[in-house]
Amino acid sequence: MKNILIISGHPALRDNSFANKIIMEDLEKLLPDATFDCLSDLYPDYLIDVEAEQKKLVAADIIVLQFPIFWYSMPSLLAKWMEDVFIHGFSHGTTGKALVHKKLLLSFTTGAPESAYDASFPVEAMAERFVRTAGLTGMDYVGFIYTGRVSYSLRADAEKRAEMAAASHAHAQRLVEKIQSLA
Ligand SMILES: Cc1cc2nc3c(=O)[nH]c(=O)nc-3n(C[C@H](O)[C@H](O)[C@H](O)COP(=O)(O)O)c2cc1C
Repeated sequence: MKNILIISGHPALRDNSFANKIIMEDLEKLLPDATFDCLSDLYPDYLIDVEAEQKKLVAADIIVLQFPIFWYSMPSLLAKWMEDVFIHGFSHGTTGKALVHKKLLLSFTTGAPESAYDASFPVEAMAERFVRTAGLTGMDYVGFIYTGRVSYSLRADAEKRAEMAAASHAHAQRLVEKIQSLA
């Protein structure tokens, strides 16, 4: 069985998340052998333990980044994690081979509906920086699982909450199926 590392990049998973919280809770139930790295639990001060994070990455075969899209990109906590941990000599450079051939899978959510991401700016555009990062670090990029319309603005409406919960559970299920197809 491959080692699976799931990294939550939501800046406030416990206190201010609807969709990512459901997805992470489902994953913990469905993948009991995976390692869960909740950045907002570990690093509320954004001070990343670089050595500990690098060890988790070295031990992993499949790396899943779970996050909400913020400003067409990843939240700053996840960007800080990546900037601190993916450093020359570890992830890239002549002696930096620690991530080579590890599988990189993205899992993200947006507030805007899926239809908002059309030909002028497709969902794939938000994955592009990770495709490039995988290329530079030798990781095998294996795609993304995506759910739209999980919006702050809909949280107060009971019917919309039920729809968002169903979409989040379905997202977790699709993600688990994708991970299992890789493992
Ligand atoms: C600072 C910030 C920036 C955001 N930027 C985007 C965006 O660029 N595109 C989008 O569709 N949704 C955007 N959203 C909405 C989030 O993606 C959405 O609330 C999140 O995916 C829902 O996950 P959660 O319930 O786990 O917080 C943004 C939300 C915040 C707080």
